[in-house]
Amino acid sequence: MDIRLQPDLRKVQMAKLPILVAPDPRLKQTAAPIGKVDDALRRLMDDMLETMYVAPGIGLAAPQVGVSKRLIVVDIAKEDEPKAPICMVNPELVWISDEDATYEEGCLSVPEHYAEVVRPARVRVRFVDRDNVVRELDADGLLATVVQHEMDHLDGILFIDHLTSLKRNMILRKLTKARKSATGSAL
Ligand code: NI
Repeated sequence: MDIRLQPDLRKVQMAKLPILVAPDPRLKQTAAPIGKVDDALRRLMDDMLETMYVAPGIGLAAPQVGVSKRLIVVDIAKEDEPKAPICMVNPELVWISDEDATYEEGCLSVPEHYAEVVRPARVRVRFVDRDNVVRELDADGLLATVVQHEMDHLDGILFIDHLTSLKRNMILRKLTKARKSATGSAL
């Protein structure tokens, strides 16, 4: 066995997964907690990261690829920076700041729509990593926003759910219309 084969093999095994688009009822489900991180889950993490990088996106939650489990992946490294993937299993917020921050958010499940969302500016998140170790991460700025956005997905919440119903329904109508014209059939 050549140890240098390992990264290559892993790359071959990585696969791009189809991303669900709103309004899909699977995006509205509450995801189930994960017991133990095993090889199958680590493979899902790798596939989700690959899917996110190709999209491209800076965060992806398992429900977006049709897996109703409490897993998110995040990487906010810029294009010219080395990759910095973070995989979080069963993430929970253990602290949020009183101070809020506003970011223009988008979502791979709400393609081509962006809107400003107000969230706590800083959070502390507790999660299990890919080696089954419990960790805590203090996040601020864009990372705090992304983590909260992805964690929302685990409870069936999309960023458009933070908007007025008027704005949300307008976006959902456009997405439904775009899907109908893409598939040529009513869904
Ligand atoms: Ni999203």
